[in-house]
Amino acid sequence: MINQIKLARTLLTACMMLCIVLLTMAFYLPEPKKEEPPKLICGNVFIEIQQPTDEIYLAGERLFKANCSSCHQMHKKVIGPALADVFERRDSLWIVAATVNYQALMDEGDQTAIDLYREYNKTQHVIFEHFTDKDLNALMNYLKFTVAYW
Ligand code: HEC
Repeated sequence: MINQIKLARTLLTACMMLCIVLLTMAFYLPEPKKEEPPKLICGNVFIEIQQPTDEIYLAGERLFKANCSSCHQMHKKVIGPALADVFERRDSLWIVAATVNYQALMDEGDQTAIDLYREYNKTQHVIFEHFTDKDLNALMNYLKFTVAYW
């Protein structure tokens, strides 16, 4: 009988200790991280599923105006294709590859790239290999979420 009481007491103490340890751990554990909004990944470039921040969008717009707008408009074919709806007709990884090095895509035998090149009078595409991932990230988010009317 005494042994049983002892056993019960030991078990109770063990339970209490466990509770204390668990509570202390819960108190000190870091807060669970907030979930980031989903992003579409293409290579090292992230395209937001929702509207990107103004900062990213405006950086993309600046890059577009400085580097692409001489040949591309958003809703009108000029020297190059209109780009406002490019994400609807092409894979995002392809768009990044076409921007960075169009010639490399053709060298790989990419039929879409080759057909487009023929359609646009064999215009050699500018190479933008100096763009950082951050530049491309901004540029792609701008293209995807543009509200430009030209
Ligand atoms: C000198 C003119 C010129 C400039 C500058 C230029 N492009 Fe192009 N782009 C073209 C032409 C022309 C094509 C069609 C393919 C070809 O002939 O090379 C094209 C095709 C593309 C395509 C494929 C479009 C589709 O319908 O599939 C993408 C994407 C693209 N360009 C992105 C860009 C981006 C982004 C920039 C700026 C960073 C840029 N281009 C700058 C002329 C240009």
